[in-house]
Amino acid sequence: MKHKSLVSINDYSKEEQLRVLEIAREFEKNPVQNILQDHVVASLFFEPSTRTRLSFESAVSRLGGKIVGFSEATNTSQKKGESLRDTILTIASYSDLIVMRNPIEGSARFASEISPVPIINAGDGANQHPTQTLLDLYSIQKTQGTLDNLHVAFVGDLKYGRTVHSLVIALCNYNTTFHLVSPVELKLPSAVKMHIKERNLTYHQYTEMEEVIPQTDILYMTRIQRERFSDPLEYERIKNAYILHNEMIQETKDGFRVLHPLPRVNEIDIKVDQSPKAYYFEQALNGVYVRQALLSLILGIR
Ligand code: CP
Repeated sequence: MKHKSLVSINDYSKEEQLRVLEIAREFEKNPVQNILQDHVVASLFFEPSTRTRLSFESAVSRLGGKIVGFSEATNTSQKKGESLRDTILTIASYSDLIVMRNPIEGSARFASEISPVPIINAGDGANQHPTQTLLDLYSIQKTQGTLDNLHVAFVGDLKYGRTVHSLVIALCNYNTTFHLVSPVELKLPSAVKMHIKERNLTYHQYTEMEEVIPQTDILYMTRIQRERFSDPLEYERIKNAYILHNEMIQETKDGFRVLHPLPRVNEIDIKVDQSPKAYYFEQALNGVYVRQALLSLILGIR
């Protein structure tokens, strides 16, 4: 994995993904290590982020490395008309690895093709978010004791939710049964469903989530992505389609957990946060260990 960019989750084999999780477990036990002191990581966020950007920064800091970059493009020379190509080529000469979030689908792949240093895709439009997937896999493995043969329900915006797309593809390696709950307008794209079909796995589609909950091991909630809608009225019409309350998770399988990539808008009532079945804030913390593992593997320290 040394110097290997991560743009789509399938850029890494199942074995490579499991290697990241194995190293992440080591970092969870011992998160402060001075192993990146000679390294500079560039963090280019052309789109808002809280968890991804700051967990990468935390990961680099706890490993003794330096991080440079920006959290919005407005103060960069992109505003003067600089191309993404020139930005990447310049920043690659200042750093050993580039983490980039960009609203344009395919931008991370383009960057990886021209960059002399590895690129980690921190989210490209509605396409993919592979580092979120690795931390989701880590969280599922940690809470369930396995990744195999689970029933996983995805609820909400399955059309624009890039975390959903990457995680569905990754879970196809583990004989998952998929329960896909969304408004008709926000169904999982056919291109992603194709991965499920190619593996001869089972998926069920629903518009209501109540009947799904008792069958599932993991309930993966997502927000309706307002920023991806061209028609604001359409967003207003379906923004409250799914709201999870404590009463809805009384009768569940043992080990059942609620995950959410966050940010949350209103799709999980805050009273659910007190439930032992809520796991989304621990999930966000796991992102630090997983990103520490990824950085150390790509930079050739592990
Ligand atoms: N899960 C996630 O990508 O969160 P941020 O948008 O806050 O980075």
